[in-house]
Amino acid sequence: MINYICNECDRTYPHDTLEFKCACGGLFNLEPFDLDFKKDSTDWSIFRYFGVLPLKGSDEVVTMGEGMTALVPYDSKRPNWLLKMDYMMPTLSFKDRGAAVLVTLAKHLGVKKVIQDSSGNAGTAIAAYAARAGIPCEIFVPAKTSPKKIQQIKAHGAKVVLVQGSREDTAKAAYEAASDNDAFYASHVYNPYFYQGTKTFGYEVFEQLQDEMPEFFVLPVGNGTLVLGVYYALCELHTAELIGHMPKIIAIQSEYCAPIHYAFHNSSVPYSSSGKDTLAEGIAIADPKRGNQIMEAIRKTGGDVHLAPEHKILEAKKQLADRGFFVETTTAATFAGFFDYIEKHPELENDRFVLPLCGAGLKSE
Ligand SMILES: Cc1ncc(COP(=O)(O)O)c(C=O)c1O
Ligand SMILES: [Zn+2]
Repeated sequence: MINYICNECDRTYPHDTLEFKCACGGLFNLEPFDLDFKKDSTDWSIFRYFGVLPLKGSDEVVTMGEGMTALVPYDSKRPNWLLKMDYMMPTLSFKDRGAAVLVTLAKHLGVKKVIQDSSGNAGTAIAAYAARAGIPCEIFVPAKTSPKKIQQIKAHGAKVVLVQGSREDTAKAAYEAASDNDAFYASHVYNPYFYQGTKTFGYEVFEQLQDEMPEFFVLPVGNGTLVLGVYYALCELHTAELIGHMPKIIAIQSEYCAPIHYAFHNSSVPYSSSGKDTLAEGIAIADPKRGNQIMEAIRKTGGDVHLAPEHKILEAKKQLADRGFFVETTTAATFAGFFDYIEKHPELENDRFVLPLCGAGLKSE
């Protein structure tokens, strides 16, 4: 297991701390650790890439065969748009990648309880993996979260706490509860082990495409678990000279909730929430805690942040369904943003893009 290091003051904390951020207010990253790029080809889960995960020393991993998702062309006319089927996961979203790694840590630590807050999918994933590990679990969600996601969390025996107010109010309620009763705050926002799980998305694409890595990854961004995870994978592979070029990350935000887009483009208009609810609930994060890290990652790849026009989200959902892909509305937003980006950049017509199907259609109303 690997210790934490504060991204503000470099103070370190042992991997078994129940603190979730530094006393200075900074966020935890992981201390650098050795990577073994040799995969275990007999393992058909994300733990195939155990050698690049910070889990050496753990007795057993908590897994349900997550990951190993196919890359499928958008359609026969666009074989260069490759869709990664991350909605085909134990809890029907990509968050299982992060939950498998974070709950493996929680199990190793022998924690009595995990607490988490989420817009829905990360909570579902933590609830399922905690159930599998036999750890009691409490999930805080905004009161307006899709009823189907709440039902899914409850099905795993987790206690669900509905919080009135913003996504940030939900997070505050969760970490207050976690500090009160010595529970492990299994936060996908604060805990860097989660991002090591989402990192496997990038390792899989590398195994699938080898020396034909795409020019672009087009990824949704709320709190940045996928953007940062993919970025870590690309950096590690690039530094080890396993990939020749650094693909660019194009991050998509909803037009109605776009703090990273505004900050990235240095808008002269300071960001304030549009006040309107977006259909893309999974990326409706007004105050992304790792905003600066996310922007730095995107910049380092030479990438961009682009908006999904709200009125195009349901149209994109239909376009995907017409090709056989039934996705949750947040995933449709990624495509609404991507289609708009391509329209504005016709010169990229023949470039190769990887886009995730992050969540399954049955999750949204
Ligand atoms: C379906 C879906 N897509 C994308 C995201 C965005 O992920 P992140 O907040 O880690 O950037 C989420 C987050 O919950 C999600 O549920
Ligand atoms: Zn600090």
